[in-house]
This record gives sequence, structure tokens and C-alpha cells, in this order.
Amino acid sequence: MSRPEAILRAEKLSVGYGIVPVVKDATMQVGRGEAVALLGANGAGKSTLLKGLSGLLKPSAGRASFGDVDILASSAEALVPKGLAHVAEGRRIFRRETVMDNLLLGMYRSRVSKGEAQARIDEVFQLFPVLRQKSELTAGGLSGGQQQMLAIAQALVRRPALVMLDEPSLGLAPNLVDEVLQTLATIRARGVAVLLVEQVVEKALAFVDHAYVLQSGRLIAHGSPAELAATDVVRNAYLGHAVPEAAS
Ligand SMILES: Nc1ncnc2c1ncn2[C@@H]1O[C@H](COP(=O)(O)OP(=O)(O)OP(=O)(O)O)[C@@H](O)[C@H]1O
Ligand SMILES: [Mg+2]
Repeated sequence: MSRPEAILRAEKLSVGYGIVPVVKDATMQVGRGEAVALLGANGAGKSTLLKGLSGLLKPSAGRASFGDVDILASSAEALVPKGLAHVAEGRRIFRRETVMDNLLLGMYRSRVSKGEAQARIDEVFQLFPVLRQKSELTAGGLSGGQQQMLAIAQALVRRPALVMLDEPSLGLAPNLVDEVLQTLATIRARGVAVLLVEQVVEKALAFVDHAYVLQSGRLIAHGSPAELAATDVVRNAYLGHAVPEAAS
């Protein structure tokens, strides 16, 4: 199946922490409005690759672009206003601030008018009604699922063209995993591209248009969920690890 024009593109990208790259020669893309999963066992390098794509880590080789912006020549801060949102592992929210202040802080650099800020907050409250109910409460007092929703909402108020999410369902009860994925489907239906790292492989594949499989720092396969299901490549990538499935 043909894929939409790329909004994010990486070519032979290598990313790591020291001299030896963790992710090597990664070539991949996410199309405009497309939902893409990045799958792989623990330690495969999924978070590292996302960090290389969002400017949090400087790739050591290769090329990457977001729209017409050269990612290797940009900082993470410069990529945010261009429309790239990275919801990192572990719910990076301001725990001592209220839900409302977290959302306002999400727009801190966006230079939007008060009216526009309010409109955007209303929009994310429609996606996550529980956040409206809790808007004056301290974020640290929210449940894990609500904190994850807040982390996503904080990215969405910036009106990104692409949201990268690193294991948004980690630690969530199965019904909340479904809720988060449904929200991502809504976001996507509005034309926002999604790059999802998700441990619940089955659910991720049910949601995305395309998936990449990372094994020991190498992208070993990619295709539509149907194409990948026809091979053992996903299962093999988790060999020695349990293939994460939805808890029932
Ligand atoms: N800050 C760091 N400094 C040095 N090495 C790191 C750092 N973070 C991760 N690594 C190493 O990079 C490799 C890939 O880690 P990464 O976190 O990208 O994997 P992952 O696929 O996201 O795994 P998980 O599913 O557990 O989140 C691992 O071997 C890890 O030990
Ligand atoms: Mg990770």
C-alpha cells in the first residue's frame, strides 16, 4: 500500500549515548497524518531512536528531517514550535503544579493569545474530560492514567503535526490502555501523525497503518500490520523476551 508523503524521515541514522551507537543505520519515515508503531523488545533502542528524532540526543551519523527542518542541525527546543511533540517515557509533568498550569506551561513557548490558549485547552478537555474535572488539582495527585493523559494533553495544546509517544500505556490498566489508544485515533482522525512506541504489540498493530521492528538497535523489518502478521518477524524480535500482550 502506498504511504503518505513523509513528514518525518530518517536515513541511516545512528544514535547513542557514548562512542558506540545504540541504534545503527535507521532508515524510516512517518507520513503526514499517518500512524506508525515502533516495536521491539526491552533495550532494543526504541526510546533512543525517538530521542534522536526529537533532538534530545544528537545522532552520530546519518540524516533526519522533520518537514523541511534538518533535525541534526536543530535543538529539541527548536523542533517543538515546528510541530514535533515528544511525549517521553515516564510522564514528564510538573507534579506540583495544577492540571491547568501544566497545560498553560505546555504552551509557554508557543506565544498564543489568551483566547487561543483557552480554546486549545477546551479542545483537550473534550478529549480527556477527566482533566477538566481535575483542572485545579495538583498533577502529582492524579492517578497514573490521568497523569499520562495530562502528558499527552500537554503535547497536544501545542497543536503538533506529529506526536511521538514513548510507551504511553506503561503501568496502565487494560481499559485505560484502550482509552489512550482511542484518543490517539481521534487525534489522528484530525490529521495529526502519530509515532507510537508501545509494549502492547497487538493493540498497537490494531491502531497503526505501518510498523517498524527494531532489534538490537537495527530496524529489521517494516510493513503494514497485515504484512507483518504474515511473518514471524515481530515474534522473533521479542525472542528471549515475552511478546507483550494485553493483560486480560
Ligand atoms: N542514558 C543512557 N546512557 C547509556 N546507555 C543507555 C542510556 N539509556 C539507554 N541506554 C542503553 O541503550 C540501549 C537501548 O535502550 P533504550 O532505552 O533505547 O531501549 P528501549 O527499546 O526503549 O527499551 P525499553 O522497552 O526497556 O524502554 C540499552 O542497552 C540501554 O542500556
Ligand atoms: Mg524505552
